[in-house]
Amino acid sequence: MTTSFETQTTGLLTLDGRHQKMYIDGQWVDSISGESMTTVNPATGAILATVPRSAAADVNLAVTAARRAFSGEWAGFRPAARQRLLLTIADLFDDHWDELTLCDTLDMGKPLTRARADRGRVTGMLRYYAGLATTLDGRTISNSLPGEFHSFTRKEPVGVVGAIIPWNAPIAASVWKIGPALATGCTIILKPSEEAPLSPLMIARIMEEAGVPAGVVNVVTGNGVEAGAPLAAHHDVDKIAFTGSTATGQSILRASAENVKRVSLELGGKSPIIVCADADLDKAVPRVGLAAFANSGQICIAGSRLFVERSIHDEFVERLGDFARKLRVGDGTDPDTEIGPVVSARQLEKVLSYVDSGLSQGARAVAGAKRLQEGSLGAGFFMAPTVFADAHDDMKMVREEIFGPVISAMPFDELGEAVHRANSTPYGLSAGVFTENVGKAHRTANALQAGTVWINTYHALDPAVPFGGFKMSGYGKEGGTEHVEEYLETKTVWIDIAE
Ligand code: NAI
Ligand code: MG
Repeated sequence: MTTSFETQTTGLLTLDGRHQKMYIDGQWVDSISGESMTTVNPATGAILATVPRSAAADVNLAVTAARRAFSGEWAGFRPAARQRLLLTIADLFDDHWDELTLCDTLDMGKPLTRARADRGRVTGMLRYYAGLATTLDGRTISNSLPGEFHSFTRKEPVGVVGAIIPWNAPIAASVWKIGPALATGCTIILKPSEEAPLSPLMIARIMEEAGVPAGVVNVVTGNGVEAGAPLAAHHDVDKIAFTGSTATGQSILRASAENVKRVSLELGGKSPIIVCADADLDKAVPRVGLAAFANSGQICIAGSRLFVERSIHDEFVERLGDFARKLRVGDGTDPDTEIGPVVSARQLEKVLSYVDSGLSQGARAVAGAKRLQEGSLGAGFFMAPTVFADAHDDMKMVREEIFGPVISAMPFDELGEAVHRANSTPYGLSAGVFTENVGKAHRTANALQAGTVWINTYHALDPAVPFGGFKMSGYGKEGGTEHVEEYLETKTVWIDIAE
């Protein structure tokens, strides 16, 4: 890693208000307008750094660079060369993991101990994509035309990819876009969230150090309307890979119609968890708790609607409340912290307004339901892990994605009824089931309308296993061989081989 990287990393730690440039065409640049924007540390409320505030003209530069790079030196990278490059990048992630994760802790609040524990998963993704780079094969297909024709398919990179990501897992989200782009031979413009642009900028430094050719990976900072929207509408972008809210996903989809670009959408959720009376409660309580509260509930897959069989409902809710109260909430840089702040003052307000709506609609707070402000917590955006009982399916907080540490419990009498209620949502990202009965587990998994169903566990993700939503949670898979297909075109070639 270059000295400037080390200096900037240290700078990030010690100098409030430090400016970071963005990465276009292999150069570290400011926005053309010269404007910048701030990013805040949500644990302290202090300005952490400034980054360029891009607009359409900056996006144009990046797209032009990515287009040129697509047919430049990069096009000559054979599959094995792309594989070696991804393996080098994975090694650099290992080397710089502590700095990268510290960036996220400072920029979006994720507890450092938790962030650091993710290393194997993130570097594993890069190594998994490296493995796929040499397997992107077409097929030879027998056809039934009269005469003699040879028909086969080729897999070709889709081209210039625009990737727009949120703030809740900036490192993993970046890797889930850059990894398949590099494996397939695409080029990419990554637009991080305005709330957490710093680790994606560090990842750009890793790209530079790894020797990724100029223009192949670009990181353009800016807000959604000024930088994200022009990228989504750009005529020379072939595909948008988006992770974020369903509302923004819909606007990206509309913008994509202009040049009929490919789109993959990893959108919101309102994931149900069903706990049956025969569940192992010692396992279920902490797993449901972390399903709801990990990353302060700011995960698309957060379990937020809890259906508990009536005979164990009261006991379960009480134990979940105890679990919630015991979680250590604080500044993510403290190694003992289990739950950090929510990302911004705006997000805290949003979570609190859902809590208020729940209370005013008659739900009972078993734990939390308030901002934490004691001592140094008062300067940051800390929310107490919250368990509601006496909730109903039609309450606002039970229907809408909150993106905060809030779970609403409701009793059920019959499993079929629980599944029906679990499915009564426009979302379909994930679901959880806790039962010790294997037949019931399978039947429930089959009946749930969700892209991922976890049984007696939650949050299990692996680079080789596809992940992605049903219904209004989006389409397209990340992870698994399905993922690289999203970055590939299938070309068919016919040859008349008759004499
Ligand atoms: P968002 O979906 O608006 O932002 C995600 C990304 O899209 C950011 O990089 C943003 O700059 C960009 N963006 C915003 N508007 C855009 C547009 N018109 N065209 C192109 N790009 C655009 O989410 P935001 O504002 O960060 O959070 C708002 C709410 O969205 C949260 O409270 C949460 O409920 C939900 N959310 C859900 C996520 C999920 O994975 N399910 C992730 C992030 C947010
Ligand atoms: Mg920030």
